[in-house]
Amino acid sequence: MQTEKLYLYPVWVRLWHITNALMCLILIFSGISMQYSNTEYPLIPFSAAVSMHNISGIILTVSYLMFIIGNWSTSNGKHYRMRIKGLIVSLLNQARYYAFGIFKGESAPYPVSKEMKFNPLQQFTYVLTMYIFVPLVFISGWALLFPGIIVTNFLGMGGIQLTSLLHVTAGFLISLFLIIHVYFCTIGHSPSSNFKSMIDGYHESH
Ligand code: HEM
Repeated sequence: MQTEKLYLYPVWVRLWHITNALMCLILIFSGISMQYSNTEYPLIPFSAAVSMHNISGIILTVSYLMFIIGNWSTSNGKHYRMRIKGLIVSLLNQARYYAFGIFKGESAPYPVSKEMKFNPLQQFTYVLTMYIFVPLVFISGWALLFPGIIVTNFLGMGGIQLTSLLHVTAGFLISLFLIIHVYFCTIGHSPSSNFKSMIDGYHESH
């Protein structure tokens, strides 16, 4: 069978993605180390973990702005415009394919194309992560960096405590996304071909 190559990941997407992935990994490790800090057995010494977390959070924010500007000013943005009509059906179709069809050798219900590089489940999780979870994590992170701007009391609860709960929850959801994301990236033309596509820009399919 002949391999088809589609150029789907322009240079700016790849630069943004590698920065974003590295920063998220540093944030997750330094964040976990701070959350379960123990002076006797520090995963990373506390003050080093704080500096790593702050610096990578700032870089993540800048790279996020690059992502938003890129999606707004280039055709890559069209892949993030979800069609609400028929959304549930298309999500179920894709989930059914991942649960059964793929094992029976069925062809993908939404094959990758220049017009639609993400399948509905991929698109849904990317939109959720990039337009809700990531902004939530860095906005709450900036607020915790400058706690003076946080209201002291919100409906009887401490503002800083609530902001920190929001921050940790968004961070947890991003970590969960990351594990599922990397696993699903192994489902491609070969287990490594999707990873290669984030290096050379070309998606391989049958
Ligand atoms: C070790 C970390 C990571 C690896 C190995 C990885 C791998 C990949 C690969 C292979 C692709 C191309 C296949 C596809 O389009 O689905 C991709 C795309 C993507 N990844 Fe990741 N990823 C990582 C971390 C992350 C993180 C932390 C996020 C978000 C918080 C993320 C968000 C995305 C998005 C939005 C795309 C689509 C980009 C576009 O084409 O517009 N990734 N990733």
